[in-house]
Amino acid sequence: MAPRIVVTRRLPQPALDLLAGAGDVWVSQHDRPLDRDELASAIAGADAVVTLLHDRVDHGFLDAAGPQLKVVANVAVGYDNVDVPALTARGVRFTNTPGVLTDATADIAFSLVLMVTRRLAEGERLLRSRTPWSFNLFFMLGTGIQGKTLGIVGLGQIGAATARRARAFGMAVVYSGRRRADEALERELGARYVTFDELLATADVVSLHCPLSAETRHLIDADRLRQMKPSAFLINTTRGPVVDEAALAEALRTGVIAGAGLDVFEREPMVHEALLPLDNVVLVPHLGSATVETRTAMGVLAVRNALAVVRGDAPPTPVN
Ligand code: GLV
Repeated sequence: MAPRIVVTRRLPQPALDLLAGAGDVWVSQHDRPLDRDELASAIAGADAVVTLLHDRVDHGFLDAAGPQLKVVANVAVGYDNVDVPALTARGVRFTNTPGVLTDATADIAFSLVLMVTRRLAEGERLLRSRTPWSFNLFFMLGTGIQGKTLGIVGLGQIGAATARRARAFGMAVVYSGRRRADEALERELGARYVTFDELLATADVVSLHCPLSAETRHLIDADRLRQMKPSAFLINTTRGPVVDEAALAEALRTGVIAGAGLDVFEREPMVHEALLPLDNVVLVPHLGSATVETRTAMGVLAVRNALAVVRGDAPPTPVN
């Protein structure tokens, strides 16, 4: 029997093209997440499901799909929405899309560094509000980053790519994380392994690249923010809940730290009300991987993962 392949969100055309003739294919035509009931009825009887980060993949999902389910392919590198041990226990393969979004996401991380340190969004708002201005030696001064230190929390692929950009801009790099990187990578990045405490105390810009997990939820809270320099900036391009947004808003309002750049939020698509009036935070709507090229590569990789498992082959980028 032809395998049933369910795609829970509209995908870029090259990814859909790969699915042509691959089986009994159902693709959601929505750009929004399916609600619980829609999802349950869409995935019933599926052999493969291609999902996005807002679909909860848990025991309920597995029950709704049924025992023939072989693979769940996430169109994202992060998978805090997925109960991987539950899938493994039921013999379901799980895949994500590492590698293809590394540069796009590091570009956004470093864009946020430049935007917040050089006050670019604030300057844009000033012009668009038709506020009178004139060039003078003290007008809208930002903070230079050359010779300053970037602290990378979690030196995975995206962290390393962000560090490369920092080096090109003349920054020193320190990093913290559960594991020390191999020597060759440290040498290439000129990166020094430090404790999280030391990173917070010394970095001029702290950029978060660790995945969201029970250990990293609210990793940055009021206490951690107080450990940072008052002149320092925080960048978050990983997952919103790694930062306690209410504590961050308060720290930004009271000058505990100098500024922040956020691409992700605790309760997306909501943004904490207390952040919105602040000029020292740059807010962008989860654009890390949002290029035509990257989204196409993510969709294609996810579909290749799903098809490989359905056909009995090894998926290119498995998680379990
Ligand atoms: C997007 O946020 C991803 O995890 O790929």
